[in-house]
Amino acid sequence: GAPVEVDISALKPGEMTTTEWRGKPVWILKRTPEMMASLAKTEDKVADPKSEKPYTMEMPDYCEKQSRARKEHSDILVAVGICSHLGCSPSSKFQEGAQPSLPDDWNGGFLCPCHGSTFDLAGRVYKNKPAPQNLDVPRHMFLSDTKIIIG
Ligand code: FES
Repeated sequence: GAPVEVDISALKPGEMTTTEWRGKPVWILKRTPEMMASLAKTEDKVADPKSEKPYTMEMPDYCEKQSRARKEHSDILVAVGICSHLGCSPSSKFQEGAQPSLPDDWNGGFLCPCHGSTFDLAGRVYKNKPAPQNLDVPRHMFLSDTKIIIG
């Protein structure tokens, strides 16, 4: 599939937009400083914090292990919005707590409605969940601060 160019100039901190690449939904999430800070808290709760398992789509090596984003734009997460279990599309759950399906110490992230896999704000799957791996991070690069090319 051809690379896709996305303009994120309208994206505010805490907001997410979805684009399509190779027939798959790709999320672009602009994380707030609080969201970024939450990643240190989920580090020991996720199954594969450094994305070291064999992946269907290798995380690009220019991405940081914890943010799973490019260093120069580490607040911007680009991830394929498809659960690695049986392919459902997780929903974003950025609010803390107060939802029965989420753990009490929930820091925000994504929840797969099919079999309850939860992912942190870097798309890393929590331990003991059916999804075998973190959400895929496709190759991407910034053409400018507000323009990303995916693929
Ligand atoms: Fe996501 Fe099963 S498809 S948990």
